[in-house]
Amino acid sequence: MTSAVEAPLPLRPLGRSGVDVPALGVGTNRWGRGRGADQLVPVFSAALDAGANLFDTAEVYLGSERTIGACLRRDPRPALVVTKFAPYPTRLSARSFHRALEGSLARLGRDSVDLYLVHFPWSVVGIPSLMDRLAGAAQVGKARAVGVSNFSARQMRVAAERLDRHGVPLAANEVQFSVFHRDPERNGVLAACRELDVALIAYRPLAGGRNRSDGSALDRTLAGIARARKRTVAQVALNWLLGKDERIVAIPGATRVEHARENAGAAGWALTDDELSALESSSA
Ligand SMILES: NC(=O)c1ccc[n+]([C@@H]2O[C@H](COP(=O)([O-])OP(=O)(O)OC[C@H]3O[C@@H](n4cnc5c(N)ncnc54)[C@H](OP(=O)(O)O)[C@@H]3O)[C@@H](O)[C@H]2O)c1
Repeated sequence: MTSAVEAPLPLRPLGRSGVDVPALGVGTNRWGRGRGADQLVPVFSAALDAGANLFDTAEVYLGSERTIGACLRRDPRPALVVTKFAPYPTRLSARSFHRALEGSLARLGRDSVDLYLVHFPWSVVGIPSLMDRLAGAAQVGKARAVGVSNFSARQMRVAAERLDRHGVPLAANEVQFSVFHRDPERNGVLAACRELDVALIAYRPLAGGRNRSDGSALDRTLAGIARARKRTVAQVALNWLLGKDERIVAIPGATRVEHARENAGAAGWALTDDELSALESSSA
């Protein structure tokens, strides 16, 4: 099995924001839930060693922002942080938005985040007002780039148009995407990312850790390719995703050092055309 990184992880742009991130980061929605910094600093450091220095968190991932904050203090090498605002129905005012951002920054121990996302589109205040607030965060330097998560293609266009009025680009839409779950190819989100020049941050890129064969055609194909290429199933699944489009950034969740290392080894090589078509047909 190949788990080391052969080449530095390629960087990918977050749309037109001017912020570049590694093609592979680390999802941290289970960081902090019963796991403290003592357990997770080694995972954080292993990701940095491998060049996967992008960490996806959110105010609603209980304990995750605080744990990332502790990791940032204990391993002060450069790291990029994505966090998210949850537009709950009780959060109507601009003040509640700014309070939430300040809370995230305090937990992270930072003056700014690299990417601040609106976590989901369902909100009482509406997408245009949410975008006005995101643009404000970018303009005062508290977010280097701003974006959305779980937005449809139509909602992305509304968001991009409103941010544009402030001269702020929509940098990313974070949605579920993997070889196991190909909705963004069918529902227009990937096409909208191409059209609007927006990064697609793929969450649950391993479908929640599905790296064993359950006998499906897709699992058999993944296992066969992994065996032939001396890779792991997770690496093949992530490589397929990164190969779909240069706007895609994957954030596999990992709470184990060996997973953080292994996942970084998913970049820097390419599946052959035959392997790609086998995956296309078995995952269609
Ligand atoms: N924006 C949103 O609405 C949203 C929604 C869901 C998730 N997310 C983000 O996306 C991230 C990723 O999603 P996810 O964590 O739910 O699912 P995932 O990345 O598809 O799977 C994570 C699971 O896979 C395991 N794993 C990681 N690398 C592996 C490897 N190389 N081989 C075998 N198993 C491996 C992990 O185990 P260990 O923990 O034991 O390492 C964990 O159990 C989250 O952490 C979160 O940051 C965002």
